[in-house]
Amino acid sequence: MWGGRFASGPAEIMEEINASIGFDKRLAPQDIRGSLAHVAMLGKAGILPPADVAAIEDGLKAVRAEIEGGGFVFKRELEDIHMSVESRLTEIVGPTAGRLHTARSRNDQVATDMKLWVRDTLDSLDEQAAGLQRALAEKALAHAATVMPGFTHLQSAQPVTFGHHCLAYVEMLARDRGRFRDARARLNECPLGAAALAGTSFPIDRHATAAALGFDRPTANSLDSVADRDFALESLSAASICAVHLSRFAEELVVWTSAQFNFVRLSDGYTTGSSIMPQKRNPDAAELVRAKSGRVIGALTGLLIVMKGLPLAYSKDMQEDKEGTFDALQALSLCLAAMTGMVRDLEPNADVLARAAGSGYATATDLADWLVRELGLPFREAHHVTGRLVGAASARGVGLEELSLSDMQEAEPRITDAVYAVLGVENSVSSRTSYGGTAPDNVRTQATRWLALLDTPSGAA
Ligand code: ARG
Repeated sequence: MWGGRFASGPAEIMEEINASIGFDKRLAPQDIRGSLAHVAMLGKAGILPPADVAAIEDGLKAVRAEIEGGGFVFKRELEDIHMSVESRLTEIVGPTAGRLHTARSRNDQVATDMKLWVRDTLDSLDEQAAGLQRALAEKALAHAATVMPGFTHLQSAQPVTFGHHCLAYVEMLARDRGRFRDARARLNECPLGAAALAGTSFPIDRHATAAALGFDRPTANSLDSVADRDFALESLSAASICAVHLSRFAEELVVWTSAQFNFVRLSDGYTTGSSIMPQKRNPDAAELVRAKSGRVIGALTGLLIVMKGLPLAYSKDMQEDKEGTFDALQALSLCLAAMTGMVRDLEPNADVLARAAGSGYATATDLADWLVRELGLPFREAHHVTGRLVGAASARGVGLEELSLSDMQEAEPRITDAVYAVLGVENSVSSRTSYGGTAPDNVRTQATRWLALLDTPSGAA
């Protein structure tokens, strides 16, 4: 395709380092879609005669059919998907095929192909994230009143409900989806027609190709059009944050399914056994979701480093955008699917959770709040009194509710036996009715709100 001034072909190693066909062949549908839009525009603009346009269109469709049918032979010497498609087109339609590349370059072509692929992928990640939100909101509704310990520093802090915990991830995923949609909106400008870097002298209609490919408008600067990989960076960045959210949840599942915690049970479908220890139920899927965040973040870091020193406009370095982007976004898609399956199937062990929620003096804050509310103590003083009572209970190895009224009154004489009502875990969670708090009624309201939103056509984003 570019051999005019060369006397000999590339060295074997040159070919190996230069070729991208091994991984960019997946861009075939986008590449052919872009070429069809381009050639139709060339015809309408009077740059190519109708007969040539028709021949090229038929040829492109024939190439597409071959690729879809699996009969297409990809050759490394043809370097990349753009040259592979054009070469086969030439075999099918003859020299007329050479007119397709009028007023474009592989630089604007590859940017367009990648944007189309990333755009489709963002749309499907958004949909998958909505599916996970739905699974979590359903679990939340079913377990709006299932108490569990809430942690800070992984120390028992205050009781919460299992549903409330699930809804925390629904909120995170809502922000992830917002980021996917933002990235999509910002990438949706068409680079096609920027040509190599400077635009073209042919009277092309970039607005027409942009519209034909579903872009909002053409990119406004030809140099930026071919030098920009923000769309990949931004998508990987959004993907990294989402992967981190999934990884945190995965970590919780790993901890919660251990025999020592025993908070939840994953289904057989999402656990594996050990070949040597028959008692084991390993949370492999959760562990892999936790681990795959590394690939996603790695792809983002890798591409940032590829881009950081590049002068305008295109450099071959940018060919390195592909493998990481493909791999990372696919990995995230798999993680979202695995998480959705795990969440749908998992069952919290309500008894264990309730027992754990009541241990570790988790209702100490409720006692302090009671002293403030009922006795008018300043919170700092109430905190101090409660601390003394926790110390007394702990020295005796009993719970706060097991201290006698006279024990209580030693720390603060005005305490009455009404205090025992707030020391129960159920009372604790149902009293937390402040907006966004863990009270079961709040959880039911929020879960129901999410399920309704997720059923709307925009899927709540
Ligand atoms: N395979 C190349 C890539 O992915 C296509 C663009 C090549 N452009 C060039 N001027 N060599 O980046």
